[in-house]
Amino acid sequence: MNNLPSHVAIIMDGNGRWAERRGLPRLAGHLAGVNRISSVVTSLLTNQVKYVTLYGFSSENWNRPEEEVKGLFQLLEERIDREAAEMHNHNIQIKHLGRINGLPSTVQNSIQRACQLTQNNSGPVLNFAFNYGGRHEIVDTARKLIEQNIPADRIDEQVFAANLYTAGIPDVDLVIRTGGELRISNFLLWQAAYAEYYFTDVLWPDFTPRQVELALAEFGKRKRRFGGL
Ligand code: IPE
Ligand code: IPE
Ligand code: MG
Repeated sequence: MNNLPSHVAIIMDGNGRWAERRGLPRLAGHLAGVNRISSVVTSLLTNQVKYVTLYGFSSENWNRPEEEVKGLFQLLEERIDREAAEMHNHNIQIKHLGRINGLPSTVQNSIQRACQLTQNNSGPVLNFAFNYGGRHEIVDTARKLIEQNIPADRIDEQVFAANLYTAGIPDVDLVIRTGGELRISNFLLWQAAYAEYYFTDVLWPDFTPRQVELALAEFGKRKRRFGGL
């Protein structure tokens, strides 16, 4: 297939509804969602995608009931070492996007372990957006620039981008959102400025490698103009 994206970002939405439709607790949906990650990532990498960004917990997801938030953190802690070991075997670098300091220390440690284990890998990059908000990222970047005493007239788009959480990672080519909502929910506001969008009603726990192929095929048909002709 020609015209493949280099960076694919996924809003993994619909876990709760997947569970509710089965009469199961929402956390069962989150578990089913976590179980989907590895096959979807593998299928993207097989299609030459070099950067994958997964949205796992937004800065607004703190508004959920404490029980659900705690359950999500527990699930992450239980699974991250196993998932990270598998990614490591595939030479994948795991990076975290977001405010790690806002997370409980045990969750911070789990994420840091995964990043450290894989930091010298030379293969594809998997960004894990957890406690991530696009507006937080822009605010944090502005703070970083001020802390470095960079004069206002030296700040341009390149300097700004080089201080985002995603420093060194190219802009997003394709944003996939599962779960039927047609919105961005504070995800990668800067990096997705010229991304193509693929929205599907398929709920995240039902998103298979076949669904990945459909999204990539749709991307292949898009004509990107970046404001030109
Ligand atoms: C996405 O699934 C996972 C997170 C936001 C953590 P949801 O939990 O938002 O599932 P729905 O949208 O309620 O179905
Ligand atoms: C977006 O899903 C965040 C993640 C998938 C992690 P939400 O379910 O939180 O988004 P809204 O609230 O429907 O916009
Ligand atoms: Mg949702």
